[in-house]
Amino acid sequence: MAHSPISILSQVDFNGEPLTDELLMKTFHQLMDEHGYVLMCNVPEEFDPVRFCRRLGRFVPNYTGAVVGDVRPEPGMDDVYHAGNTRPLTPHSEGYDFAVVPPRYIALWCVTPAEGPGGETTLADTRPWVQSLAPAERERMTTDAYDWKTTEGVQRLGLDLKTRHPLLEEHEGGLIVRFSCNNLIRDDDDPAVELQQRWHAAFDREHVAIDYTERDMLVWDNWRLLHARNAFSDRSRHLRRIQIAA
Ligand SMILES: [Fe+2]
Repeated sequence: MAHSPISILSQVDFNGEPLTDELLMKTFHQLMDEHGYVLMCNVPEEFDPVRFCRRLGRFVPNYTGAVVGDVRPEPGMDDVYHAGNTRPLTPHSEGYDFAVVPPRYIALWCVTPAEGPGGETTLADTRPWVQSLAPAERERMTTDAYDWKTTEGVQRLGLDLKTRHPLLEEHEGGLIVRFSCNNLIRDDDDPAVELQQRWHAAFDREHVAIDYTERDMLVWDNWRLLHARNAFSDRSRHLRRIQIAA
């Protein structure tokens, strides 16, 4: 069951005039602090997404080294779990396969929306889920480290990333949540299995679905929110992507 996003920022005001840079940033951060994501709509053609992202922090290169990545169906990638095809993605955080802390923000903006159904980016906030953990479970999730692997798609790019992190990490900038339904390595009787099922079910119940219009830009706090994607059929769907450090 998908909900509509509520954290939406119009880049133009009630008169159709672009917001000042100052007001845009102020409202952006208010909405980000409250909801953990912001969908910017009514984006003028002149808007420069890279310049906007630079004001949020240092860029973290994508897997290929490209700072501005393309998210669109890639040839020869239809048979693997990978953002570069038309298949669904299960709820996850970005960067659990990095040795360093994951990117704080992920920005996606729409070059070409998908025609027809599907292709929404979906998001859900882990904050209430973390707050409802029993103290012993939270302690275990902070203490027990797990091995993580990268996705099949990234492996096919020639990167075999292996890391070891707990699911929750206290950081001076806030709590870091790492999560994957398929790339967290654990035994079938590990307590993480039940947690994965519980959070996957919570994601399915609570997520908001972002249906892009051309130039819409979505930014979320990747330490706090999980994201996923609905399958689609239009192979011309094209998003661009920047990862931003804390
Ligand atoms: Fe992702």
